[in-house]
Amino acid sequence: MPELQKDQRKYFRNLLLHFRPVTVPERTLRLSFTWGLGGMAVGLVLLLFGTGLLLKFVYEPSPGLAYDSILYLENNVPFGQLLRNIHRWSGNGLLLVAFLHFLRVFYTGAFAPPRQFNWIIGLTLFAALIFSNFTGYRLLWDQIAYWAITIRTAMLEYIPGAGTGLKKLVLGGAEPGPGTIMNFYVIHTAILPALLLFVLPFHFWRIRKADRLVIPRSPEEDPAACGPEVDTMPHLIVREVAMALVLLAVVLLISMFFDAPLADKANPGLSPNPTKAPWYFMGIQEMLMHFHPVFSLLVIPLLLVSGLFALPYINSTAETAGVWFRSHKGRTMALVAVVVATAATVAGVLLDEFVLKTSQAGPPNIMSNGLVPFAIILAICAGFYLLIKKAFTATRNEALQALFTLLTAAFVVLTIIGIWFRGSGMQLMWAG
Ligand code: HEM
Repeated sequence: MPELQKDQRKYFRNLLLHFRPVTVPERTLRLSFTWGLGGMAVGLVLLLFGTGLLLKFVYEPSPGLAYDSILYLENNVPFGQLLRNIHRWSGNGLLLVAFLHFLRVFYTGAFAPPRQFNWIIGLTLFAALIFSNFTGYRLLWDQIAYWAITIRTAMLEYIPGAGTGLKKLVLGGAEPGPGTIMNFYVIHTAILPALLLFVLPFHFWRIRKADRLVIPRSPEEDPAACGPEVDTMPHLIVREVAMALVLLAVVLLISMFFDAPLADKANPGLSPNPTKAPWYFMGIQEMLMHFHPVFSLLVIPLLLVSGLFALPYINSTAETAGVWFRSHKGRTMALVAVVVATAATVAGVLLDEFVLKTSQAGPPNIMSNGLVPFAIILAICAGFYLLIKKAFTATRNEALQALFTLLTAAFVVLTIIGIWFRGSGMQLMWAG
């Protein structure tokens, strides 16, 4: 090999090893452990930054021009529709991939010390991704975006004390208008990307600080047994590049065949029916059908988010890190939790819809719609935790994992009901 080429290879290799460890345990390269999800998330973030920057050349952040600038992009700019599709599907894909990565980290116990701080950073990243998707989707200023903003911000008024002020702050005025679109534009294209650019390197640095990923192992294996180490270059890097290329191909294929949706231009005089939230908020919208907004928008999400942040401190044993589901028993318990959550959530929604009919009984009531069902849900969660712990003679951590699974599965079922089983007037219907 000529000397110059050798030097270039050496410099490239040294540059890469500033970001990655020199060697990694061979076991952590197993696809069935990380599923390459963290790496895929990185790829999608890069794709979003690139396509987002290009979109900024055409997009006009004002109520009169925003929608037309999207039409112009789609019809007059070469590859404009493709660019929009890639941005939209990468954003949606990133949420899904980050959620799966979050589940993999949880179920392999990779949030326990010394990785607890990275779990918190990860949750911050996840929140930033949700808000990035949410604010981007509003920039279209089509019927869906306009009415979603109008209806969701009206619900903020239920929050005691701060509601009206918060609504005004989000809208940038009393009504959806130029202030609203500018708020969302600045948050979407400056504040959240800056946050991601700052927090992501921190996330990677913490992985190195924790001295690599958790080592995958079976429950019977010694946690200290790492197995052989291999050089990061080429073993890890080649796998990452291959994964990135496959990911790019998949996003491109999806974007070539499926156009990002665009409804009619915003019309303040005509609301669409049904007005559905984007899929990642459908679980919350479905909760809103059954609970007072103070509980569905504030109390329940706050409790769940606090629980997630506190998780490494209440379920902190690192002994089972690297073992999927903590143990064989933990796996069975998680499965039981999914079955119980599915049955209980479907039964609860049907009971409320056809027997109690709380969503049709006029304005929400803080007692019958709020405190009472909330207390019942808390009692169910506590009962489930105690029962499953006793039935399986499980550890506290195994039981907490089952409770986490119960709540996550219930949220997924609510999301599915909202997306596929709600039709005109948000009535329950049989699929569609
Ligand atoms: C933009 C979003 C994210 C990106 C780009 C990202 C990227 C990554 C990458 C590349 C890894 C290393 C290997 C792997 O698991 O694939 C990783 C590990 C990790 N991530 Fe994330 N992540 C994101 C979101 C999250 C979230 C939502 C959480 C959890 C709340 C999280 C918590 C962690 C933890 C604790 C580790 C260390 C895991 C271990 O040691 O095995 N990350 N992340």
